[in-house]
Amino acid sequence: MRIGVLTSGGDCPGLNAVIRSVVHRGTDVHGDEILGLEDGFLGLLEGRARPVSHDDVTGLLTLGGTILGSARVKRDRIRWAVDNAQRLARELGIDALIAIGGEGTLTAAKLFSDAGLPVVAVPKTIDNDIDATDVTFGFDTAVHVATEAIDRLKTTAESHQRVMVVELMGRHTGWITLTAGVAGGAHGILIPEKPFDIEAVARMVEERFRRGKKFAIIAVAEGAQPMPGTLRFEHGQLDQYGHQTFGGIGNRLANELEDILGTEARPVILGHTQRGGIPTARDRVLATRFGWHAVEAVHKGAFGHFTALRGNEIQLVPLAEAVVRLKTVPPDRWAESEAVL
Ligand code: F6P
Repeated sequence: MRIGVLTSGGDCPGLNAVIRSVVHRGTDVHGDEILGLEDGFLGLLEGRARPVSHDDVTGLLTLGGTILGSARVKRDRIRWAVDNAQRLARELGIDALIAIGGEGTLTAAKLFSDAGLPVVAVPKTIDNDIDATDVTFGFDTAVHVATEAIDRLKTTAESHQRVMVVELMGRHTGWITLTAGVAGGAHGILIPEKPFDIEAVARMVEERFRRGKKFAIIAVAEGAQPMPGTLRFEHGQLDQYGHQTFGGIGNRLANELEDILGTEARPVILGHTQRGGIPTARDRVLATRFGWHAVEAVHKGAFGHFTALRGNEIQLVPLAEAVVRLKTVPPDRWAESEAVL
């Protein structure tokens, strides 16, 4: 078979490991030809693709990013491609497509599948907010990077008796912030699922200082929201959905805390560092398993499905279930940590 593979949406550690796994399983075991579509769905739209051989994937297990390139494609272009799906696939000569991506990609994959394109999808995101799978690859690496950042910030914060506000990724959900915050022992953890009160954050810091601990680390998700009307400083730039972009809440909080407490506070915006570099062993294994199962799904004709981790098993789940809702941090989970304010 000739299988097209593409990576779409924001990149994440482990994408290359999936590509490698698809090539190994497809070419070595099934005698497939793997065609790598460039820059996500743009490759399909614009007929940009290249064969990916066993040699091309040497060393990919440890390489972050994606050798195929990735892009976020506007909705109207996706709609056009869906309407022309059969023709585009024919022009590339592909019998099936493996689409690797996050929520947007899974939504697009469903549209293509409904339009008759034989598609199998593989979920990815550092945010870990896809409900239908227990976990996505990329998340573990992002948590490691974020935890290391918190660990490192502690020593400099203590040396200078400062409050460090570290803003982590997660526009809609707080999985990275909660997990790294707990792992790194952050003193305050602020996530989008629980609007925070700045006074409670300030009181926590004051209390620490009273007890002689003259520094504090606050981990805040980029999408964390203050209770309405509780922050005095203006919010920064908003994206097209009205959410704060990077640096928005981190900078505001640091300014505000410095103002309330009269103590030095510094923002640290970790940003895309969380998405780059070498995937952890756990992410490499999950990505490899997803790639293996995606190829098997193609050969079983299980189109319109995506690979999901449920317990220790990889299952094939209908794409319709992929996009029902985001997996947010449930209250009984964040209630387990006193640092969540
Ligand atoms: O990959 C998901 C995510 O990392 C979000 O947490 C973040 O808000 C967004 O991507 C950033 O996207 P971009 O790379 O387009 O700025």
